Amino acid sequence: MDAAHPHPTAPAASPPLGSLPVEPLLTSEFDADPGAVYQRLRRTYGPVAPVGLMGVPVWLVLGYPQVMEVLRNESQWRRDIRYWRTRAEGRLPPDWPLLAGYEVRQMMFMDEEEHRAARRTHHSALGPFQNARSPEGWELRAAVSRYADELVALLAAETGSAGFADLGAQYSRPLLLMVTTKLFGCPVEFGDELVMDLWRMLDGGPDAGPATGRALAAFTRLAAHRRARPGDDFTSYMLLADPELSDEQLGRELFMNAVYLNDITGNMVLNTLLEVLRGNATVRRSLSAGQLGETVNRAALANPPVANMCFRFAARDVRLGDVWVRAGDVVSPSAAAAHRDLLDIGHSHLVDSAVSTRAHLGWGAGQHQCPSAARELGGLIVTSAVGRFFDHFTKVEPTLPHDQLPWRSGPVVRGLRLLPVRYELTGSGPALTDRRPTRSSTAPSHSADRQTKGLLAALRKLMFGGRTASQDHAG
Ligand code: HEM
Repeated sequence: MDAAHPHPTAPAASPPLGSLPVEPLLTSEFDADPGAVYQRLRRTYGPVAPVGLMGVPVWLVLGYPQVMEVLRNESQWRRDIRYWRTRAEGRLPPDWPLLAGYEVRQMMFMDEEEHRAARRTHHSALGPFQNARSPEGWELRAAVSRYADELVALLAAETGSAGFADLGAQYSRPLLLMVTTKLFGCPVEFGDELVMDLWRMLDGGPDAGPATGRALAAFTRLAAHRRARPGDDFTSYMLLADPELSDEQLGRELFMNAVYLNDITGNMVLNTLLEVLRGNATVRRSLSAGQLGETVNRAALANPPVANMCFRFAARDVRLGDVWVRAGDVVSPSAAAAHRDLLDIGHSHLVDSAVSTRAHLGWGAGQHQCPSAARELGGLIVTSAVGRFFDHFTKVEPTLPHDQLPWRSGPVVRGLRLLPVRYELTGSGPALTDRRPTRSSTAPSHSADRQTKGLLAALRKLMFGGRTASQDHAG
């Protein structure tokens, strides 16, 4: 494996990142076909390429072995933003749109013991939801299926058993918002605006700073709310696992978890639906064989929702691929580019043993990879959402050709703004009645029911209150 070789100092002749001409990564070509851009960068520079991210030079790591090296070698590749030389020297533009998210100090941006302690807290707080035999785990599983059914029933009630829908605005986004509300123990008024603020932060829009501030404030209020009124939810269990957490720190942790739960998991749902709809044969085969876990692995391989992972900072000068990365340089490991290696090189020795779809980097790798309980939860949500969806429809067709799908523009997430489809439901679709699965000891309480109904009313407004994006794009 072509791993990095630690070296005391980079040779004087090797050009520093700041001195290289860089091409901007985020262009309309990148939005439309990032694969072609990764390929061109690879041909020009090899497995590590200098690129410009909104005016700031960054090493983009494209090769699978090099991405694995960066993800796994914690002592060389740091997460703490204070290692970033450009920032430490005050050379980052203060309004650089991607900075807002990186300045929120939470588990993702911690190293070593501080990071391990934060992961133990997460593990303990997420654990009960991971286990289908625990009341919390059982209830969450039942809730995801119920929410999926409710959303299809709403669609049938409002639009009819055949028509047009935007699977983003009318299925994946409200579904994940409902799951977040339930898992985090949120008051009902958390809404789509919060999801949009998380998008703005991740995509580095011009209002990323204020959007990050609003979302953080909302999660800090939630932390204070659950400290005063603990329940059977993730927020309360975080406090149980680490009573020392301040409202502000817990708010920051919830904020980051909400990014993954809402935005990333929602994208994974949409990307998986898309892979099935556009006829990805292997994804379809695994779906019809009932292997939903394999369906998700295949969709993640074809299109990982976290396309480019969080920045890492070099602790020392180091050779990576064909370049010298200097201490304090920033690198962004690209799962999407590395997956091209996996798909291209097949059974090559580069990918350890026989290639399996599980070699995908959709969950990351190394010490900061998606925690096992979160992975299980994410997988459960995606498989239930996708499985339930196809149970209800006899026909679903995208209304836009593949090359006209509207992708979000940003460095981290490869996700659709909307997925407009024409659909026909099986029969008249599920009814909007109380078909909730019950189990006497864990049946949702009256207040949980009221909460769900209140949320559904709000979602109805959100989903149908005005011209939908799908109608705008249905042509
Ligand atoms: C299908 C859904 C999901 C995908 C594809 C996904 C993907 C990822 C990836 C790629 C990373 C590593 C990022 C990096 O190293 O830069 C990560 C980390 C993380 N994910 Fe997930 N995730 C998903 C669902 C979830 C859910 C549901 C939660 C929580 C409820 C969650 C919580 C986290 C946390 C806390 C981290 C940070 C771990 C650390 O820094 O130690 N994820 N996830």
